[in-house]
Amino acid sequence: NIQGFIFDLDGVLTDTAELHYLAWQKLADEEGIPFNREANEALRGVSRRASLMLIIGDRAYSEAQIEEMMERKNRYYVELIQHMTPKDLLPGAIALLDELRQAGIKIGIGSASKNAQTVIERLGIADKIDAIADGYSVQQPKPAPDLFLYAAKQLGLEPEQSVVVEDAAAGVEAALAAGMWAVGLGPAERVGAAHVVLPSLAGITWADLRVKLSNIAR
Ligand code: G6P
Ligand code: MG
Repeated sequence: NIQGFIFDLDGVLTDTAELHYLAWQKLADEEGIPFNREANEALRGVSRRASLMLIIGDRAYSEAQIEEMMERKNRYYVELIQHMTPKDLLPGAIALLDELRQAGIKIGIGSASKNAQTVIERLGIADKIDAIADGYSVQQPKPAPDLFLYAAKQLGLEPEQSVVVEDAAAGVEAALAAGMWAVGLGPAERVGAAHVVLPSLAGITWADLRVKLSNIAR
């Protein structure tokens, strides 16, 4: 019996994936490291440090330089998210959030980002969210289940009562590891492990999802 939804933020409710990309691209350009949109695909849902590691590859940098670069990228990203507005919510997001609330379903955010709070405020959805698990909440990043377990706990729910909506492979893996229902957004090559795979939230209703999920024998 599903009582709550935990939404990943970046790439699910809003396309900050693009803003993360622009910030990383700027850093990579400054460092003279080849990087592009295609390479950025591998960073979807990946933590800040792990993203930087993927970008620098085997180039030699000291820990101090790594930290400086993480901070610099974050400055660029923080600057970009200041310009976000409710218009940056992805199609279908607000309708689903409102329908869930009306149905008495709890809503949480499970994002690895330390900027999740700011993004939620800029999107104007803070009053629709019951709990936020973000980049400050747990130690182990996705695909570990910790972040989603933390969110469910904040919502007062058991894993099997919770549905996670994710756009990243590591996020789907984390949801399954937590023993939760997983809805994957995007191509099957990326989120095919989820119980339900959808192209995006556009046109998706709780009424439909509920039927889809209840048809799956676990
Ligand atoms: C999310 C995003 C990643 C980002 C990570 C950390 O998982 O999908 O692209 O690297 O959060 O975000 P932060 O804002 O803390 O650097
Ligand atoms: Mg994501």
